[in-house]
Amino acid sequence: MGYEIYVRSFADSDGDGIGDLAGITSRLDYLSWLGVDALWLTPFYPSPGHDHGYDVSDYRAVAPHHGSLQDFDTLVSAAHQRGLRVIVDIVPNHTSIKHRWFASARRDPDGPERHRYLWADPGPGGRPPNNWRSHFGGPAWTLDEQSGQYWCHLFLPEQPDLNWRNPVVREDFESILHFWIDRGVDGFRVDVAHGLFKDTELRDNPQIAPLADGMHPFEVFDAFEHRYDMYQTETTDIYRRWNHICAPRQVMLLGEVDAPWPDRMSHYVAPGVLDQGFLLWAARAGWSPEALLKMVRVMHEGLPQGVSWVLSNHDRPRPASRFGGGEVGAQRALAVTTLFMAVGGTPFLYQGEELGLTDGTLRHGTYDPVPVETAGAIHGRDGCRTPMPWDTSPHNGFSTSDPWIDSEPRPPQQTVAGQRADPDAPIHRYRSLLALRRKHPDMWRAPLEWIETSDPLVAALRRGSIALVANLSDHRTHVSLGSPGWQPVFANRQGSRLDSATSEAISVPAETTVVLTRGS
Ligand code: NOJ
Ligand code: MG
Repeated sequence: MGYEIYVRSFADSDGDGIGDLAGITSRLDYLSWLGVDALWLTPFYPSPGHDHGYDVSDYRAVAPHHGSLQDFDTLVSAAHQRGLRVIVDIVPNHTSIKHRWFASARRDPDGPERHRYLWADPGPGGRPPNNWRSHFGGPAWTLDEQSGQYWCHLFLPEQPDLNWRNPVVREDFESILHFWIDRGVDGFRVDVAHGLFKDTELRDNPQIAPLADGMHPFEVFDAFEHRYDMYQTETTDIYRRWNHICAPRQVMLLGEVDAPWPDRMSHYVAPGVLDQGFLLWAARAGWSPEALLKMVRVMHEGLPQGVSWVLSNHDRPRPASRFGGGEVGAQRALAVTTLFMAVGGTPFLYQGEELGLTDGTLRHGTYDPVPVETAGAIHGRDGCRTPMPWDTSPHNGFSTSDPWIDSEPRPPQQTVAGQRADPDAPIHRYRSLLALRRKHPDMWRAPLEWIETSDPLVAALRRGSIALVANLSDHRTHVSLGSPGWQPVFANRQGSRLDSATSEAISVPAETTVVLTRGS
């Protein structure tokens, strides 16, 4: 089981209000106690912070507010001592506008450095070269007054896209991989893994839905088929090369692959390419059990081990908030996470998910630089980025001074310390679930057989000595497991009445996922 650490908001060791690497090291005992196997750290590299670290200005260093390379080495060795693997984020689609590569590319339009990035002459009437859009609003092109050419950026203008057809770019990133592998990392999470290459002719993307005034930038982005700005076949050649570097050293490649279709995902996630792909679909969805169960089955059939299921990350409102809020939302989130344990590759929790947290409440303003820069057009990334609530000391034990993001303190029952003291709290359910997955590798390794149910809101499966029934409907259901002798060992609800034991059928309450074992 993996665990995403949003470095800015996890633990601040030096009292500057910003989370840092030493803070993470000081909390490793907690993560071991919880039972996770691998940590994914969001970017901690030097960055002007236009997209909070996803605009990297030096891929081989640590931003001073997050610590130093020495802190990184200390973190890796302390994690390894506890058997925890460390996965770092690599951002290859774009750099920061402040990266020295971009400075030299811009300085000399005729020089060789120019071709590290994507430049194009204006279209008719001085317009951008084509109809590509930025994820964050507006065209994916910004005019460089000095040269009269546009640069391409699928995100902010301060995140210029690299030109992956230039072998120098490829060589640089391969050397960056070596740099971090030599420092002991166990894996890379590849940002926008379906990006990188662009169409050589810069053709317009087909528009598939009408545009309207006031549309959210994500909706505008989705109104186009991304035939030419993303998903280019050459991208996987890069990952094949990376795989040659990583596989012999047991270093994992985990892509952020925005492809909720197995045929597309399997270009990227395949033997010799990326090991696994984060499927973002479930981190975006509201409470839609039928669509979710369908997606799980389809993806599992196409890619049995390749999908790393996540219900949340640092980009979307927390699942408990999306699934109805409060206790109801938290129960639903755990019901789904329990299913994720048995249907794919390595699932990940996002920090605080184990507390069943809903989004934090901001006191004033917005902090995500993206809505600031797009005049408030994008909301929704601050609430999931509020500090990890450790205890009831000032700032919930995150920092000794005001955190970088000003939010309401969490009450005791939403903190790690408060939940550890309460045997009925979500943290203990998550911990038991993680322990169960470790104890029963059949849960993710044995051949999976679906048990047919008549209800599209109920999924049931067997994997060797494990059976699982996810009843995401709003009523109790009966499922026949096909053979007797199953014992319930886990349910997302404490004290759920589970009639089963030795019978071959189980009765499962509404919005409950049950795991059963046999013969062990
Ligand atoms: C995905 C990251 O998770 C997100 O935070 C970032 O804004 C984009 N990639 C661009 O790097
Ligand atoms: Mg700090």
